[in-house]
Amino acid sequence: MGSEALARIAAAQDATALESLRVEFLGKQGSISGLLKTLGKMTPEERQSEGPKIQALRETVQTALTERKDAFEAAALEAQLASETLDLTLPAPQAPAGSVHPVSQVMDELAEVFADMGFAVATGPEIEDDWRNFTALNIPETHPARAMHDTFYFPDQMRNADGQKMLLRTHTSPVQIRTMMNQEPPIRIIAPGRVYRSDSDATHTPMFHQIEGLVIDKGINLGHLKWTLETFLRAFFERDDVVLRLRPSYFPFTEPSVEVDVGYTVINGKRVIGGDPNASENGGWMEVLGSGMVNRKVIEACNLDPDEWQGFAFGTGVDRLAMLKYGMDDLRAFFDGDIRWLKHYGFAA
Ligand code: PHE
Repeated sequence: MGSEALARIAAAQDATALESLRVEFLGKQGSISGLLKTLGKMTPEERQSEGPKIQALRETVQTALTERKDAFEAAALEAQLASETLDLTLPAPQAPAGSVHPVSQVMDELAEVFADMGFAVATGPEIEDDWRNFTALNIPETHPARAMHDTFYFPDQMRNADGQKMLLRTHTSPVQIRTMMNQEPPIRIIAPGRVYRSDSDATHTPMFHQIEGLVIDKGINLGHLKWTLETFLRAFFERDDVVLRLRPSYFPFTEPSVEVDVGYTVINGKRVIGGDPNASENGGWMEVLGSGMVNRKVIEACNLDPDEWQGFAFGTGVDRLAMLKYGMDDLRAFFDGDIRWLKHYGFAA
């Protein structure tokens, strides 16, 4: 019986076959278990001679089963290791890497330039109230400037706790109000963010990005404004020969107000910011910023004394600055999410 059992164990092809052999030999109803049961009916002499033989048979079969089982497991592991071998000489799969959008990159660049001049970054909500977006900025209900903003209003019943109408902010200037109301002067902040106007063509999208600047301190004058903007524009466009032209303008929240142009020259048919616009054949001026001294009425609306505190403010389009710096010509492409466009301008790998 022993050699037959061992032969069958050796012939078992897998763990399942092996398990049924174990049940057949050593299970409760198994043949070897049956032999062990016969010991009870034997005479002591028979038991003494037969007992050890049956025990030895049981151990031999048990050992054979265990060894065969171990062999199956080792073979399975071998097979698994062989199939999972890594070929480290193969090229690694390309992980799809994201990249920074030009608008985000320009906002980072702006924050960095202004941080060097001691400006902190302030933020405000894109859903703003009528008072902070208009009234506190000296744009009362009937002011014609409201019509120029093409405002997205929320339904009339959706007012805030102060009973103010709600809207999508049309500029970053309400962050001026929020900062002056929440912070003791002196103040030096920039506020980059999204703004909304109902307008769409090659140079306008209903959502775009602005950056606001605000300085409130004692004895601030137009010279400080001019120096700040000149230093900023030269750092941003990375050229020391960027020249500025200040033109009188009008914004309800600044007095006096100035629009700022930068000089451009033409190289290989492309407009480049910097250089002497009058010396260059096709050179000229390009408007880049609105600014001015903060209107006394705005300072008063924020519960500050305009005889004690003065300042300047400026605002400009981030998308426009990105277009000028990186030579892009259609604003709408900024928000199409077309990776080929980003690649063309070097913003995606
Ligand atoms: N808020 C103005 C605009 O959106 C820009 C501006 C900001 C002008 C601050 C003057 C001072 O056009």
